Amino acid sequence: MMSSSKVSTFLSARLNALRSYHQKQKNIWDIGCDHGLLGLSFRSEEEVESIHLVDPSAPVISELQKRLKDSYITKGKLFIHHEHGQKLIIETDSNCIFIAGMGGKEIGEIIIHLLPSLDSTSRIVISPHRKILELRALLGKLPLALVQEELVFEDGQFYQILCLMKGEGPRVHPYGRDIWKKEVGKHYRDHQMKHFGVHEDLASKGYMEYLADPKLLKST
Ligand SMILES: C[S@@+](CC[C@H](N)C(=O)[O-])C[C@H]1O[C@@H](n2cnc3c(N)ncnc32)[C@H](O)[C@@H]1O
Repeated sequence: MMSSSKVSTFLSARLNALRSYHQKQKNIWDIGCDHGLLGLSFRSEEEVESIHLVDPSAPVISELQKRLKDSYITKGKLFIHHEHGQKLIIETDSNCIFIAGMGGKEIGEIIIHLLPSLDSTSRIVISPHRKILELRALLGKLPLALVQEELVFEDGQFYQILCLMKGEGPRVHPYGRDIWKKEVGKHYRDHQMKHFGVHEDLASKGYMEYLADPKLLKST
């Protein structure tokens, strides 16, 4: 799913995939922004009225402030927040909220915190780096519809990307449905089976059973 915004040649495949879920929302939130590349890639988009870079790390914020001090986008459009996502206050409508490169626990906490402030014009686009099954289980219980999910392979790593909206619609599946498609999905399944196959707990066994089902790769 590509938005009206063009692909940025300055971004990695993972960040470009995240970016592609923006659909004309006016306010961009890059939570856990670090380098800020994702949020800043929207600076030339006319429909974007505000870009918010959020990070709790003092060195990250000071580096961004130094780097962006004389930038033309600091005038009115760009906001830098020295804050945890779990404490952030956002406006209600037309938000595209990116949360990438963090653990599933933190992403879940941030989504629970932000959900009451969101309406159905906003999107949450996430890419957790750890505790993904735990996060999926939580998301499936929240009033969130899955718009789309995909898998990106970059620099030897697999990244799940999920685009969510508040409201009715298909719920997040505990293990994922569309991420197993295509060649990259097959490789991811092999990778996950190798990783989880050595675990004896019930959750890992349930996941392994799901992955071993030949129907999983049928739609490739
Ligand atoms: C690995 S970087 C990810 C940078 C970028 N989002 C990406 O995906 O390339 C993770 C960033 O998340 C920030 N972070 C950690 N916990 C956070 C929280 N609770 N709320 C917001 N940001 C957080 C860290 O300070 C760090 O800068």
